Amino acid sequence: MKLFSGKCNAPLAEKVAKHMGLSLSPLEIHIFPDGEKRVRVEEPVVDAQCAIIQTACTPTDQSFMELFFIADALKRSGASSVTAVIPYLGYQRQDHVFREGEAVSLEVIIKFIKAVGINSVVAFDLHSIKIPEVFVEFGLDVQHESALPLFAKEIKKQQWTAKDTVLVSPDKGGIRRIKQLSEMVDTMSYASIVKNRDLTTGEVSAEEIDGALNDRAIIVDDMISSGGTIAAAANLLLGKGVKEIIICATHAVLSDSAPQILQKSAASTVYLTDTVSIPEEKHFPKLTILSISQTIAHALKK
Ligand code: R5P
Repeated sequence: MKLFSGKCNAPLAEKVAKHMGLSLSPLEIHIFPDGEKRVRVEEPVVDAQCAIIQTACTPTDQSFMELFFIADALKRSGASSVTAVIPYLGYQRQDHVFREGEAVSLEVIIKFIKAVGINSVVAFDLHSIKIPEVFVEFGLDVQHESALPLFAKEIKKQQWTAKDTVLVSPDKGGIRRIKQLSEMVDTMSYASIVKNRDLTTGEVSAEEIDGALNDRAIIVDDMISSGGTIAAAANLLLGKGVKEIIICATHAVLSDSAPQILQKSAASTVYLTDTVSIPEEKHFPKLTILSISQTIAHALKK
């Protein structure tokens, strides 16, 4: 297999290559003064199975275009197959029409992925259980991986047990996720917050809790973007008497002032993964980064 990396998460791609005993294959990605890109494969790929690691992080549109150009260059150069490893799949939250008249961004992205000749996709902690089915509907194989085993390992390492700890989903949509994590940590009990989001302003409010709490709460979410969901959840838990709050989330989208919001939040530790590269300036004292690189290496070897 030949491994290529887009510009979005090169440190992750380097780690994956190391786990696989490979070197990243060279690519020329030239950026013109107007921001357009020219992509060229710099070594022969005829009949080779190729994988591209490119997370779809901010600026999401450009990250996707770069991925599409790399895939096109590989196909034109004779690659036998192209797997796109997209650890964070941007635009996945708009997976249906929420309000009449909206585009379904996820479907548009999947159509592009298919159109440029990508044969299969590896993604992590997709927002909804239905997303893999959408890929299949469009004739694409998807390997749906998860960071939950990394969080489970950390929970065990810290010796947090059901005696004083409960898993918490910040919204009803995340219940499936915490049920899976619960299975990995000796069926730890779980609770869920009833969250409301204003669809026009994006503002989040955490209303009430469904389920029993404990001294320690581990909030588990697929992504942190503005930090609004997590901050509201942590405040609610604090108000309900929880003494220690831990956050585990897969995708560190971290828009705007999310790092400051997380640092100021009631949580003591924030675990995020490297599906999205977190630049130095977005690091904050409460942050611990867990790497999904080994999971990608295993997925590509399958
Ligand atoms: C929502 O359903 C997701 O699971 C996340 O909770 C949400 O996208 C996080 O976004 P933000 O950090 O902007 O509240």
